Amino acid sequence: MRVLGIETTCDETAAAVVEDKLGGGGGEILSNEVMSQIARHAAYGGVVPEIAARAHIEVLDRLVARALSDARIDLGAVDAVAAAAGPGLIGGILVGLTAGKALALAAGKPFIAVNHLEAHALTARLTDGTDFPYLALIVSGGHTQLVAVRGVGDYQRLGSTIDDAIGEAFDKVGKMMGAPYPGGPHIERLAAEGDAQRFNLPRPMLGRPGADFSLSGLKTAVRQELLRLGEEPSDTDKRDIAASFQAAIVDIVVDRVRSALRLLAEEDCRPNALVIGGGVGANGAIRRALTRFSAEAGLRFISPAPELCSDNGAMIAWAGLERFKLGLVDDLGFAPRPRWPL
Ligand code: KG4
Ligand code: ZN
Repeated sequence: MRVLGIETTCDETAAAVVEDKLGGGGGEILSNEVMSQIARHAAYGGVVPEIAARAHIEVLDRLVARALSDARIDLGAVDAVAAAAGPGLIGGILVGLTAGKALALAAGKPFIAVNHLEAHALTARLTDGTDFPYLALIVSGGHTQLVAVRGVGDYQRLGSTIDDAIGEAFDKVGKMMGAPYPGGPHIERLAAEGDAQRFNLPRPMLGRPGADFSLSGLKTAVRQELLRLGEEPSDTDKRDIAASFQAAIVDIVVDRVRSALRLLAEEDCRPNALVIGGGVGANGAIRRALTRFSAEAGLRFISPAPELCSDNGAMIAWAGLERFKLGLVDDLGFAPRPRWPL
């Protein structure tokens, strides 16, 4: 079975074709075309919704055509068309959702509306055929969630952020230090050469019951340290700030995952794995810490390749395929859901 997937909820335009593996778990990515709009938004220090929507319109047709030709098939050879219907920016969602419906209608194929967060949560099944139940940590510029994934469509949110998303905190700290948007990769690069012990930054929520996150206090503490350093922090100051900030994030993430596992244990649920998704999942320090933590906890840790953690079409196609296999198709009247919770 093959599904074409379309993603336009934020600042990546993406189209991909995935296929399920015969007789086994997991899937095959036949094509995965992604076009990032970062360069267009960089000057504004963040994603500008109007620019994003227009940019999706400009390139989506071409990306869909390329995704099909890379997969060496035409539209008639897909079994269904899936598009992300939210959560995200309404203008962008409208572009991808409308295109997906139009392609499905033209080809006479079923249409599937996919929740973008569900797609992040299910990516580990595409890459590793992971069995339910498992614990998913979804960390991106817009989302920070710990979710018990018990089945397709069966998700229990254990915790989320009460203020900023983790990626947002990386981006804001990057901006404070003059790094271009998105700040995450810059902070990681700076941190690699910095002294993580130099600044004693807070770790909000550490040790608290439940699995919620809070990042705004940490962000404010970084701002205060920068103010204390004066007008122009040196390169060493910036590296040490980045390292100290990233170390705080790592501690918070590990603590919250530990607490989420405790919540599951109280329900007698033993997850098969811990999986990470979302753009922040590309962060090496977080991946290393979770690898270590999972080994100690006797848990499998699944970290899809960075290009499958950040927004992409393969994850939408795969979530569509999983839903389609269960007969979960949608009608062409499906409305965009910019605030669609998981
Ligand atoms: O999932 P994504 O591509 O888009 C959405 O926000 O949905 O995630 C982008 C976020 C940005 O906040 C970016 O700074 C962050 O992921 N990010 C990172 C790294 N690479 C991307 N954060 C920390 N370390 C990284 N290496
Ligand atoms: Zn995302």
